[in-house]
Amino acid sequence: MKKMLEGQIAIITGASSGIGEACAKKLAEEGATVVVNYATNPDDGNKVVKAIEDKGGRAIAIHADVSKEEDVINMFRRTIDEFGTVDILINNAGIQKDAPLTSLSLEDWNKVISINLTGQFLCAKEAAKEFMRRGVVKEKSVAAGKIICMSSVHEVIPWAGHDNYASSKGGVMMMMKSLAQELAPFKIRVNSIAPGAIQTPINKDAWGTKEALENLLKLIPYGRIGQPEDVGKLAAWLASDESDYITGTTIFIDGGMTLYPGFAGNG
Ligand code: BGC
Repeated sequence: MKKMLEGQIAIITGASSGIGEACAKKLAEEGATVVVNYATNPDDGNKVVKAIEDKGGRAIAIHADVSKEEDVINMFRRTIDEFGTVDILINNAGIQKDAPLTSLSLEDWNKVISINLTGQFLCAKEAAKEFMRRGVVKEKSVAAGKIICMSSVHEVIPWAGHDNYASSKGGVMMMMKSLAQELAPFKIRVNSIAPGAIQTPINKDAWGTKEALENLLKLIPYGRIGQPEDVGKLAAWLASDESDYITGTTIFIDGGMTLYPGFAGNG
C-alpha cells in the first residue's frame, strides 16, 4: 500500500522532544523525509534522526531558533538545497513560562509570544514562498503545500497564571485562519491541531505525581492523559491528501477537555 506522505519533505519545528518528536516519527513512517528542527542541543535532534533512520526512514536535524528570522530562512534554505523543496510545515515549537500576571516579566511575555506565535509566522512565511514557487506536483499531493500549526485547547480555554501562553495560542488561532483564507487560492492548506493535556516534558507538573494526575483527569472526560503519538497520527493525516478538503480549521485532540467537564451533573 502506498504510504500517505511518500516522497514529501516535511519540516517539523521543535521536533527533538514531545509532540514534535512524535510528529516527526509518524510522518517519516508515512514516507516523508523529515527535517527535525531543534533549538539548543544537537544531540536531541540527532537522537530523533537516528530513531527514524533505524526504522528505515529519512531525516536530518537542523538547528534554528524559530523566533529569529535569519535562523528560519537558513533552515528553509538548507532544506531546499538538500532535498529540492518543502511540502509540509508542522509549526510545532512552543514553550511555557508561567507566572501570575503581577509577577510575569515583560521578558517572559515576549519570549513566549516570540517563539509560540512569531516563530509560527516566520516559518509559515518561508514555507508559503516555497509552496507558491513550486505549485502543485500531482504525483506527490493535490495541494501545493500544507501548514499545520500546533495550537492548544488554550486557544479557547482561558488559563489563569499562563497569560502569555494562552495569548500566544489565541493568536495562533487567528493567524492560522487568516493564512488559510489568504493561501487557499494557491492550493495551500493551513490548519491547527489543538492538543489538550498530552504527556510530555512541558507539563510534567500536571502528571508527574499521582495527586497531580488525579486532579488533571478531572478535566478530561475520556479518562486518560493524551500521548504524543495521538497527535502524531492526526498530524500525518492532516498533512496528507486524505484531508484535502480541510483548511482553516482547528481540530481539538483533548479527550473532551473543551467540553466544559465541570458542567457534567452541575449548572
Ligand atoms: C499545555 C499543557 C497543558 C495542556 C492542557 C497545553 O497546551 O502546554 O501544559 O497541560 O495545554 O491544559
